[in-house]
Amino acid sequence: MSAVNQVNTSSDPIEDTGLLVVRTVADLRRCVAEFRKAGRTIGLVPTMGALHEGHVSLVKGALDRGDVPVTSIFVNPTQFGPKEDFSAYPRDEEGDFAKLREAGCRIAYAPSKEEMYPGEQLTTVTVAGITDGLCGPLRPGHFQGVATVVAKLLLMAMPDRAYFGEKDYQQLQVIKRMVRDLAMPFEIVGMPTVREADGLAMSSRNRYLSTEERAKAL
Ligand code: PAF
Repeated sequence: MSAVNQVNTSSDPIEDTGLLVVRTVADLRRCVAEFRKAGRTIGLVPTMGALHEGHVSLVKGALDRGDVPVTSIFVNPTQFGPKEDFSAYPRDEEGDFAKLREAGCRIAYAPSKEEMYPGEQLTTVTVAGITDGLCGPLRPGHFQGVATVVAKLLLMAMPDRAYFGEKDYQQLQVIKRMVRDLAMPFEIVGMPTVREADGLAMSSRNRYLSTEERAKAL
């Protein structure tokens, strides 16, 4: 079977060397179950898309550990403040799928907002203390949005491991702490920051920087 844009759940993903694109929790779980039946472990790479080499390194990290890489692509509205860039956040689904195919990712989970948040979300995850400093006070609600969506993605995919960049160091600590405090059965793997040739950490938001701001960011 060649790479497909919608998963055919009657086919066997194990035989596939391409990328399966799934849009629903039910299809994600079906595909993950097929790989598990074949004795494979699962590595989740949560992303908001607009993928770059940093994301690709997370997929490679999963492959290096022998996991079947599952990359989620979801621009999570609940982690953006009212004056932040949710609408402007870069989106390039086809480009992302091409990069994932090239990297050897096996499943792309690209749910709609309705699939991720069917109805009002009354349950949230708050990690106290380590969100008091750094980005926490500057972005009220941000880490609650991140922790909640990551908890949901983990419970949807039920991976063995999940991979996050050390670039977002506070986020990584928040997620590690959430998993520890809630006894979630997932290993959280932090991966080294990937940088441009001049040393700037790769980020989907770097494209917003003017030449002057980019020089300052270094
Ligand atoms: O780091 C990100 O891209 C996001 O915060 C994450 C972890 C995918 C949650 O939406």
